[in-house]
Amino acid sequence: MGQAISRIVLGVTGGIAAYKSVALVRRLRDAGFEVRVVMTEGAKAFVTPLSFQAVSGFPVSDDLLDPAAEAAMGHIQLARWADLVVIAPASANTLARLYAGMADDLLGTLVLATASPILLVPAMNQQMWASKAVQRTVAGVQELGYQLMPPAVGSQACGDTGAGRMPEPEAIVQFIQHWQHQGHTAMEAAYSTLLSGLHVAITAGPTREAIDPVRYLSNHSTGKMGYALAAACARAGARVTLISGPVSLQAPQGVERLSIHSARELLAESLRITEQGCDVFIGTAAVADYRAAEIAPQKIKKSNDTLTISLVKNPDVIATVAQHPKRPFMVGFAAETERVEDYARGKLASKALDMIACNDVSRTDIGFGSDDNAMLVFFSDRFGYEKVTLAKASKQVIARQLVLALAHALGRGDAAEALHPELMVRSGEK
Ligand code: C5P
Repeated sequence: MGQAISRIVLGVTGGIAAYKSVALVRRLRDAGFEVRVVMTEGAKAFVTPLSFQAVSGFPVSDDLLDPAAEAAMGHIQLARWADLVVIAPASANTLARLYAGMADDLLGTLVLATASPILLVPAMNQQMWASKAVQRTVAGVQELGYQLMPPAVGSQACGDTGAGRMPEPEAIVQFIQHWQHQGHTAMEAAYSTLLSGLHVAITAGPTREAIDPVRYLSNHSTGKMGYALAAACARAGARVTLISGPVSLQAPQGVERLSIHSARELLAESLRITEQGCDVFIGTAAVADYRAAEIAPQKIKKSNDTLTISLVKNPDVIATVAQHPKRPFMVGFAAETERVEDYARGKLASKALDMIACNDVSRTDIGFGSDDNAMLVFFSDRFGYEKVTLAKASKQVIARQLVLALAHALGRGDAAEALHPELMVRSGEK
């Protein structure tokens, strides 16, 4: 967003989260913004215009055809006055109406009449949010250039738990401030639609393979790369499901997290999501290759000097998903200590993947547990390019670059190229 924001029109639509918008007006004013509130008819079923008048200090606008209101501050004037239009909560109905360009109420008209950025903060029941119709609308409004703050995950007024909650007012204010301070460039706007309309499943973290009720086999994976990728995919407009082993990280904003422990649980969840139909599957999880042949029902007691535990091979999650009839676009990761390129290309072929990102874990400055990474990315033969080299950078930056490479491979290359020509120039190398 190039220009500074001081004046915000807040559109409130019909949803139980509308009560949070009263607090949002207060927080926005505390942060120094001038706020005018526009309500839809639906919103008035949840909160009275008087409440918003009290907190904003100005009468609420709610009628397109009221001559008195139009004389005070007409919809065109209001549209010009705003530096930013925020719609929070944005109901499924409002999203669909905005996508269709409806102008039969004040809010719809104002959105069409403003030259300023529009920020949509959807809130609805998790099942509604996940529905194909809403996801298609969400992709559509982002293609129209509207910015979206993804809903939070958690318990909902209707008793459900999932993605669909309106983020807390403080988080919305922070989002706006961050956006303003960063300067929301055209590039950022383009990035935010790179994966719109797609459902991306990401496996992350280690698995734990029980030996007895108190012990397990595991590894040092921290999940940082997978979580950074989940955040980057969500930022690029995708719906993201993160299937995560035990890690100490918070789920990124707007990302649905499913927690698992063992490789077999990871496989079951991955197949369930694949069966439901996801578009991209990214395997960053450090899956334990073996598990105990039998889990002792009671704690194993100390006795002999040596203890032998028989191990059996775990299923290969990513290779199994790649054989599924509803096979998504498959992205694997490989951590190697030698002959990085040979092994990575071998896994690309043997696991039937479309793309593989690999790093050299013999380097101590990158990889496991580190905040940085450096990667080589290879693609299946059916793509016209061979390799992308991602120089050492933070896992957040690497994740964004991987999203660009992914978008390119998914046929969204024009957008990706416009964002990062340098990245794609290097893709021709052998
Ligand atoms: O075979 P290797 O473990 O090196 O392969 C790494 C890739 O395969 C990663 O994408 C990892 O998440 C995935 N993988 C898997 N299930 C396994 C082992 C690895 O999904 N059992």
